[in-house]
Amino acid sequence: MNVPGGRVLAPTPAALDAAAHRLRDGELVAFPTETVYGLGADAANPLAVRRVFEAKGRPADHPVIVHLADVAELRHWARDVPAGAEALARAFWPGPLTLILPRSERALDVVTGGQDSVGLRVPSHPVARSLLAAFARLGGRGVAAPSANRFGHVSPTTAAHVADDLGDAVDLILDGGPCEVGIESTIVSFAGGAPALLRPGAIAPAAIAAILGFPPRSHDRAVPRAPGTLASHYAPRTRSVLVAADALRTVLASHASREERVAVLARTTRRPDDFDGVWIAAPADPAGYAHGLYANLRALDAADADEILIESVPASTEWLAVGDRLARATRGEDDDRD
Ligand code: TXA
Ligand code: MG
Repeated sequence: MNVPGGRVLAPTPAALDAAAHRLRDGELVAFPTETVYGLGADAANPLAVRRVFEAKGRPADHPVIVHLADVAELRHWARDVPAGAEALARAFWPGPLTLILPRSERALDVVTGGQDSVGLRVPSHPVARSLLAAFARLGGRGVAAPSANRFGHVSPTTAAHVADDLGDAVDLILDGGPCEVGIESTIVSFAGGAPALLRPGAIAPAAIAAILGFPPRSHDRAVPRAPGTLASHYAPRTRSVLVAADALRTVLASHASREERVAVLARTTRRPDDFDGVWIAAPADPAGYAHGLYANLRALDAADADEILIESVPASTEWLAVGDRLARATRGEDDDRD
């Protein structure tokens, strides 16, 4: 299928082979992972990685994650792999976990953002795995890939989201259908002493603690710089606000009285009979909610409303990753987006 601004292909063996060759030749390939779609380039090719930043409109000093075909590649990119990191890799790879480790001399500055650490992940999505394996057969060691969205926008969870965001800037998009997890990987850093949770994701702190034998430190701004974790990104363009479940109906009524158009991401609140805007009823469980979150935010953004109202989610730990993304989506100041 051809869409304006990008070639979208089903992940047939021929398409995967073509995609691996494009990566080897320094071109950009967007591909599905179990979390979100990534915009990939050969991690050993500085010009290719630079093109990723240009395609996204992202500042050059933001580090990108290197995606690996196999856990055995860890030591190619990291000079030191603490026992805890090794244990997490064995427990959760392939899967939605990124490890930040002291970099080897092979990790390029353009990949690490000039930091002394590198982010690494072995994804579990079969298309990502096949692409990484095909690239490895051509001699590739890793694929540098941030989320395949324009800088500051919500991450893409379908091939169409990638095409909408990046258009001609991407040479090939592999279509693996909607991403299962729907939000970005959990990030655990071993770069600054005791392991720290830099970004919550589908792999919960308790699951990490069960492997490490102690909980990871929660993220604070003193630990290594992780631009994507510090401020608002994953943001819709329409002004978005979080509203407590028990206040949603009142807030709706006041918007209606001012004749303002709102779009709503509800979870437990039922759509009032007289509501005539876009209303999305999200699943009540955290995994189901996360799975559809970014597609829902894009749909609400497309409603062309004056404001998006998002019903807040519980403060419990099982909602940590979703709550983190909603906080970013609704925050005003946007100095740091990936
Ligand atoms: O699920 C994911 O992680 C997706 C898929 C494509 O793998 N990727 C993703 O990449 O979300 P990106 O670039 O949008 O976000 C990566 C995050 C950023 O917040 C970045 O700052 C952080 O990882 N990061 C990468 N390398 C780092 C490093 N060496 N030190 C600290 N943070 C790092
Ligand atoms: Mg991103």
